[in-house]
Amino acid sequence: MPKLGVNIDHVATVRQARLGFEPDVLQAAMEAIRGGADGITVHLREDRRHIRDRDVTALRKSIRVPLNLEMSLAEEIVAFAFRLTPPKVCIVPEKRKELTTEGGLAVAREFSRVARAVERLSRRNIEISLFIAPLEREVRAAKKSGAQVIELHTGEYAHARSGHERKLELKRLKEAASLAHSLGLGVNAGHGLNYENVKPVAHISHMVELNIGHSIVSRALFVGMRQAVQEMKRLLN
Ligand code: PXP
Repeated sequence: MPKLGVNIDHVATVRQARLGFEPDVLQAAMEAIRGGADGITVHLREDRRHIRDRDVTALRKSIRVPLNLEMSLAEEIVAFAFRLTPPKVCIVPEKRKELTTEGGLAVAREFSRVARAVERLSRRNIEISLFIAPLEREVRAAKKSGAQVIELHTGEYAHARSGHERKLELKRLKEAASLAHSLGLGVNAGHGLNYENVKPVAHISHMVELNIGHSIVSRALFVGMRQAVQEMKRLLN
């Protein structure tokens, strides 16, 4: 059964709506951990739209499960991660105007830039994953870059408009996971996963961890963070 990384960015989104202190991001992380989260994920965006530097620093100090920092390749952010040394980072593409991370990292196209960041962060013993589309060329480029882990982008699967399309996307995820595993890469997945669509992805062979944010934070509004995480964990079992 895959582990569950809970992404709490959108707790900070609600806080930033009033630029204040509540809801408290650290408290959300603690409740998620009490509910069974195996890790906590946050995305420190260049525009600091939700998670702020001080959130990441506080989480790094306080939580007892691994912190996974999602980040772009921007020099300032890479330098921040280098100083903070979270146990894990996930490198993602970032566009200013997007609502959320829209696609996978173009590792094959931006190879030297990615490999340079991987090399730099590896010096701090940080486990590095690359958020990529389930494509053979991206899996192979990720391996060549020196990253230890890939996170497969499940957005196309989650947003498929028909059962047929969803099946095809699931097949692509399975093939990419199997190739990555054969190359010695760890396999995570995430984006757009929710209580309805998560099970088939959780059943993909070699899946190590799923990172899920929006659906859990949304459910937490009604049942609380602890229970929202417990319910998702049950689906992964
Ligand atoms: N994994 C990565 C790399 C992401 O960028 C995101 C979105 O921030 C997620 C997982 C979580 O996606 P969602 O909020 O749709 O569950």
